[in-house]
Amino acid sequence: MPKEVCGVPTTQTKTTTLFRKTGETFHAGAKTLQQRYFLSPDIFAEELEKIFARQWVLVGHQSQLGEAGNYFIAEVAGESLILASDQRSTIRAFYNVCRHRGSRLLEDQNGNAAAIQCPYHAWTYGLDGRLLGVPHMSDVPGFNKTDYSLHPVNLALWEGFIFVNLADASTRLRRSTARQAERDGYTSLEKWFAPLAGKFSRWNLPALRSAKRVEYDVRGNWKLIFENYSECYHCLGVHPELSKISPYDSAENDLTEGPFLGGFMRIAKGKSLTMSGNACALGIADKEEEGEEAKHRVFYYSIFPNMLLSLHPDYVMVHQLWPQSPERTLILCDWFFHQEAFGRGDFNPDDAIQFWDMVNRQDWHVCELSQQGISSRAYEPGPYSARESIPAAWDEYYLRKMG
Ligand code: FES
Ligand SMILES: [Fe+2]
Repeated sequence: MPKEVCGVPTTQTKTTTLFRKTGETFHAGAKTLQQRYFLSPDIFAEELEKIFARQWVLVGHQSQLGEAGNYFIAEVAGESLILASDQRSTIRAFYNVCRHRGSRLLEDQNGNAAAIQCPYHAWTYGLDGRLLGVPHMSDVPGFNKTDYSLHPVNLALWEGFIFVNLADASTRLRRSTARQAERDGYTSLEKWFAPLAGKFSRWNLPALRSAKRVEYDVRGNWKLIFENYSECYHCLGVHPELSKISPYDSAENDLTEGPFLGGFMRIAKGKSLTMSGNACALGIADKEEEGEEAKHRVFYYSIFPNMLLSLHPDYVMVHQLWPQSPERTLILCDWFFHQEAFGRGDFNPDDAIQFWDMVNRQDWHVCELSQQGISSRAYEPGPYSARESIPAAWDEYYLRKMG
């Protein structure tokens, strides 16, 4: 079994990471999920409640809130949330719900504002959530503005990415112990990501900036997207262009069970995953940490329940998955580059964006075909191949969370 080195710059040491060929971690007998997991509205509602309303979910990157007053809206488990950078450039998250009579506050998906004013009766909130202005409430006995700040949402940053968690940790922590809160489903972000500590440091993820976002409306269940991302058994037939640059059978994984899954695939020497086959931007990894081998690898990791993280030598692609119904998923795809890459003569982000837009659409197409076939009365769970050990591991973790 080959041993590889994975840099951990935070400690200035190197840890040895074991990468194993995909087939080596396969459990014989693994089969695809039952039909109901792709079609049932009850299971879909259960997923929102047990997974999307309890886990840390990705909503964006800190570079989207780079200036005080910037905000964007995220829809998580049926809730509209405001993500904003307050006057001190602290990132905050609130329910998009007025404390007066509950009106939706912000309708635009993103923007910049000095304050948040309710469109109904003009209660005005600071971007730190405090209620600042309330017309004609001074004659209401006992009314105190400080009692009506916007309802906050748990928020934390991991490698520059913004995650929220709707589990009401503060209430749980008040009425019981932290251990009890965790049993109820709440884990701090730090603890959740502890198995990945330092793993991605050399890509400088907090400092990257998105050059482009594309939204895809896919007629398929969100789990099909994860299962598709997690294997390259389909690559030769579905992605001829990708397979020319990155051999479909070159996958080796270091994370093979649990909420974080994946590893790397090889890139042909001197090539990049772009339309031209050439690098399209300044390299993003720390040169000292990168090492010769890493220049010819693309790393693919799925982060439960809604993030796909693809780390290339010259860019990082991130997919956010947002289940809309059992049979529909909204996918937001961003292409991130080094801050210093922007504005340089060799910066050609479209080369990577067009390449992956093509590959993405090839993937969504087969996911949509899967959804159609799985909807048939003839469908029954089929056997995974040994090259599909990672989707099988993903299903296993998903079922544990639903249990
Ligand atoms: S509902 Fe917002 S001010 Fe009345
Ligand atoms: Fe694919």
